[in-house]
Amino acid sequence: MDVIGIASGKGGVGKTTTSVNLAVGLAMRGHKVMLFDADMGLSNAQLALGCTTAFNFGHVLSGEKTLAEIIVTTRQGIRLVPGASGVQKLASLSPLEASGIVQAFSSIEEDIDFLIVDSAAGISSSVLTFMQASQRRLIVLRDEPSSIADAYGTIKVLINECKLDEIYVVPNMVDSQAAGRLLYKRINDVCKKFLGQPVQYLHSITNDEHMLAAARNYQSVLEFAPGGNAARDFRKLAETVDSLNVTATPSGGLQFFFERMIAQKAV
Ligand SMILES: Nc1ncnc2c1ncn2[C@@H]1O[C@H](COP(=O)(O)OP(=O)(O)O)[C@@H](O)[C@H]1O
Ligand SMILES: [Mg+2]
Repeated sequence: MDVIGIASGKGGVGKTTTSVNLAVGLAMRGHKVMLFDADMGLSNAQLALGCTTAFNFGHVLSGEKTLAEIIVTTRQGIRLVPGASGVQKLASLSPLEASGIVQAFSSIEEDIDFLIVDSAAGISSSVLTFMQASQRRLIVLRDEPSSIADAYGTIKVLINECKLDEIYVVPNMVDSQAAGRLLYKRINDVCKKFLGQPVQYLHSITNDEHMLAAARNYQSVLEFAPGGNAARDFRKLAETVDSLNVTATPSGGLQFFFERMIAQKAV
């Protein structure tokens, strides 16, 4: 199983869009995908996947529900773990709560090929916790100064403080693949020069007006406009992610993710 954390620094650059469409794209390639919605923003993964859930991770933390009870299967076949504000508590769990969650996740250790974690904006300790617990990190950014600065700021913390690698850049809302590649090159040059470590490139997502209409229809753009530019790019992104080597997970499965996540604590 591959655990992929999605971050950006700045909000509104396309983390949730990327998480959802990557999840759908991998599911369309025949993989079993779980999406953990750890972004508490307004336009969350549930809306984008067109499903409403009665319960969320907060209910698991409060003991009202088991993890198995809150996970839903979306019509795209994705196993969705609905987030909510309770997720913020993950950084300050008592050991008893923590072991309870690890147990809960190990009990639903279903056959999952990819676990995708959509994180909130910023680089709070909980975002960093998710990024550390992931096997790879995708940094979504746009070609605008504040997004570039925030993406770089995030990468800097991931490299300097968290000592992480497997950091991949996904330029979003670009005019062309060439423009996206150029944006990647610019940020990679700065990373090599000032952080002494390169970041990797995956694929860029073109600015596509279908995205807005897809959101209004509570659909991923892969479903709503499969012939459009963004859908083409997300299919390629999923294909590229699919071709990455999956690193062996010692204890395997979801249990591994949560053990690591809980072991990390705040940075
Ligand atoms: N490639 C794109 N083309 C056009 N609009 C996009 C694209 N990617 C994202 N958007 C739009 O940008 C807004 C923010 O995206 P979202 O994924 O919610 O960002 P985040 O999760 O980083 O806050 C949404 O309205 C989304 O539909
Ligand atoms: Mg979001």
